[in-house]
Amino acid sequence: MKQEILNRMEKIERRLNHLLRITYERKSEPDLLDKIAPSLKELREDNKNLSPALDSIFRRSSFPEFSRLKEKIQGAIQFLGDFAGKDLDSWRGKMADQKRLLPKLRKEIQANWQEPLQVKILGIGEITTTIELRGEGAPRRRKPEDKSWVGLAIKKAPSFPDQAGAGKYRELCSEYENFLSQNLEIRTPYAEHRLMPGKGGRWLVYNLQERLPAESIACLIIQVADPENIERIFIRLLAEMRKIFVWNRSHPEYRIGFDGQIPNWSFVRFGPEHPVIEKNEPLLYLDTTTPLIRRNGAEQLDTEIFIKSIPIFLRPIVRRTLLKEVLDRYYRPRDVILDLLASLITHHRPDLAPGMVDLTNQWLQENLSELELQPYTVKEIVSYNRQDVLIWKFFRQMKRMDRLITEKILGKTYEQRLPKGSPDKWENLVGAGGKGLTVPETLKGLLKNK
Ligand SMILES: Nc1ncnc2c1ncn2[C@@H]1O[C@H](COP(=O)(O)OP(=O)(O)OP(=O)(O)O)[C@@H](O)[C@H]1O
Ligand SMILES: [Mg+2]
Repeated sequence: MKQEILNRMEKIERRLNHLLRITYERKSEPDLLDKIAPSLKELREDNKNLSPALDSIFRRSSFPEFSRLKEKIQGAIQFLGDFAGKDLDSWRGKMADQKRLLPKLRKEIQANWQEPLQVKILGIGEITTTIELRGEGAPRRRKPEDKSWVGLAIKKAPSFPDQAGAGKYRELCSEYENFLSQNLEIRTPYAEHRLMPGKGGRWLVYNLQERLPAESIACLIIQVADPENIERIFIRLLAEMRKIFVWNRSHPEYRIGFDGQIPNWSFVRFGPEHPVIEKNEPLLYLDTTTPLIRRNGAEQLDTEIFIKSIPIFLRPIVRRTLLKEVLDRYYRPRDVILDLLASLITHHRPDLAPGMVDLTNQWLQENLSELELQPYTVKEIVSYNRQDVLIWKFFRQMKRMDRLITEKILGKTYEQRLPKGSPDKWENLVGAGGKGLTVPETLKGLLKNK
């Protein structure tokens, strides 16, 4: 918004320059005011939009000189707004006033106005809502590996009762990321995990991750890429996950749980300029904030993190029944792949299911026969997705109810960031049954070429 206002001011300055030049050069021409009337009208239109924009800055913050300059400029704008009954000299005088004052005000705004940060939801997953802060002053980091500047995606974990619990979670996130990238060569984005004291003695962990371009998230790529590239994506994801299955099989004492769904992957280079998946296309796994590690069979993550988002009266039953099954699924190779296949349906490509089922079955025979996994069928994928949608829709309704109870009845702050209204309408909901990510403008061209 700041840049937009500054650009608008510059445009007005150019127009004023032009008009003033004409009024000086051709001042002896009769009816000059009538001749330049169209340009004056355009100036009035531009000025009309500028005035409320300046007021909106003023409402949010005030800084030295700003209000004095603003009032003077608005005075000139008001004068110039009314064409009737004014002579050329008065017009010229007010235009000159505005022209002189605008650069001063621009400098003031540039130097002193810190635009408020905007929160943008990048994706709502099963557990976490990932956001980004936009605007001047939004946090950025220099990545140690190549010293490049990156924006940050922020994933706030549910709060912890004490510092030790929060600290343990933070360590586990780092352990998970390091293990994937260093031991299994499944790369993860640059990340930091920050501990902060919360309300009422509770502790928070903010997971900061390099913000990846929307165009790179695989659930969007499958909507725009051609069939050949989509096959490459699928084979690549299967190959990445194979590393985990093989590791887990030979290391029962240290097993990794994994969520291989399509929105959890980013082909970082993909975009309108690079609309292909090459053999060693750089790939990142971004769902690292639910770090599932079982040491000698014991889940290292405090699974209350899952439970926290549902209403208190349902927690015991979910703890006893659903939770164990939900978590086990992430350790069973067949279920992990099933989840990937079923995510095609959520992400608007049910048409790909038959082809990808065949491809997966064949790939399993050739690359993972030692696991003796039952081949998949399209029917199974469809019915699994239907069930998954039901479970997660229920879970989301529970979250809404929890928010309502927390905010309206208990009068407390709800910890998680969720959009208002029905989850059916939430933008960028990547969990089962959601609308999926909105295709960005930059990819729409590829969509048209299909
Ligand atoms: N670093 C990032 N840059 C850009 N978008 C991101 C990033 N991380 C996440 N997203 C968006 O948010 C969505 C959800 O993120 P993520 O998978 O981490 O959450 P989740 O599925 O709820 O994870 P978890 O189950 O671990 O809490 C992603 O599919 C993606 O669209
Ligand atoms: Mg995810």
